[in-house]
Amino acid sequence: MGHTVTLIPGDSIGPEVAEAAKKVIAAAGVDIVWEEVVAGQTAVASGGVAIPPEVIASVEKNKVALKGKFSTPVGEGYESPNVVLRKELGLYAAVRPIKSQPGFPSRYEDVDLVIVREATEDVYSGIEHQVVAGVTQSIKITTKVACDRVVRLAFEYAKAHGRKKVTLVHKANIMKKSDGLFLRCGKEIAGDYPDIAFEALIADNMCMQLVKDPSRYEVVVAQNLFGDLISDLGAGVVGGISNVWGTMVGDRDIHVFECIHGIAPELVGKGVANPLPLLRAAIAMLRHLKEDAAADRIEAAVVAAAEAGDVTADLGGTSTTDEFVAALVSRLRG
Ligand code: IPM
Ligand code: MG
Repeated sequence: MGHTVTLIPGDSIGPEVAEAAKKVIAAAGVDIVWEEVVAGQTAVASGGVAIPPEVIASVEKNKVALKGKFSTPVGEGYESPNVVLRKELGLYAAVRPIKSQPGFPSRYEDVDLVIVREATEDVYSGIEHQVVAGVTQSIKITTKVACDRVVRLAFEYAKAHGRKKVTLVHKANIMKKSDGLFLRCGKEIAGDYPDIAFEALIADNMCMQLVKDPSRYEVVVAQNLFGDLISDLGAGVVGGISNVWGTMVGDRDIHVFECIHGIAPELVGKGVANPLPLLRAAIAMLRHLKEDAAADRIEAAVVAAAEAGDVTADLGGTSTTDEFVAALVSRLRG
């Protein structure tokens, strides 16, 4: 049976890598009708808003979306399209697996943890003021409702996936009220899951521990900003952006699969962008659509292409985007 999926290619190299992902999925024999929508800088440039209403409507209807990269203005300009999308669709958590991937040697070989990142508040609420010239404030919002639901989601994820421990990341020694609330919610909800161990680590210590021995962690739950930081730290310990992806989720059965790092504007139009970060998200999407056989075959093709060196320059190869895709497609058809 075919699937209808919203495709949000996004900005920069997004459209190039989205084309690549479509070709690979088609070669794996999965029948997907892509409902392609324009969002991000591309939508703003044509006189609209970053997340036009038809984008929201399409994702609400299809329940599943694949999302490329958005360029987010730094220090000025419109609100991050990612943040708008999360708020509008009630996607309050980003689930980001950090897993060692065969074919991509890195410093560690046995990492298999999942970051559950709160995605609606914290300093991402975007409430900032200039009090007087030279004095600014960024306000960190933390609510019990948001803490409870994201911690519960982390425990439910652990339960559903046979994980035995949830680690909560905070800085309650400094932010006694906001992070103190998050920590209290964590301790309280942990009581409902007696079979799953609970520990809390202070964020800076967590960064060190993750670098020293990432294999100690299973499910890690964090508020928005620390979750963002440890997502990239986690990507680093499993070999970089080609080995990680994320799913934005909430309570409305909507899943937005995304590549979570970098927009590489310097590569636009050169045909050399690495499609793997988006392809990882696409593979996770196929599993969600119960197309596990196709997902397995694409993963095997990725491993084989990586081992043969048929990859883009950032992965140590010399392939263009098209050549990388061709290397995957020939293995999928062969
Ligand atoms: C991420 C990204 C985004 C974030 C940016 C692009 C706004 O870094 O998804 O991790 O900070 O949430
Ligand atoms: Mg990030």
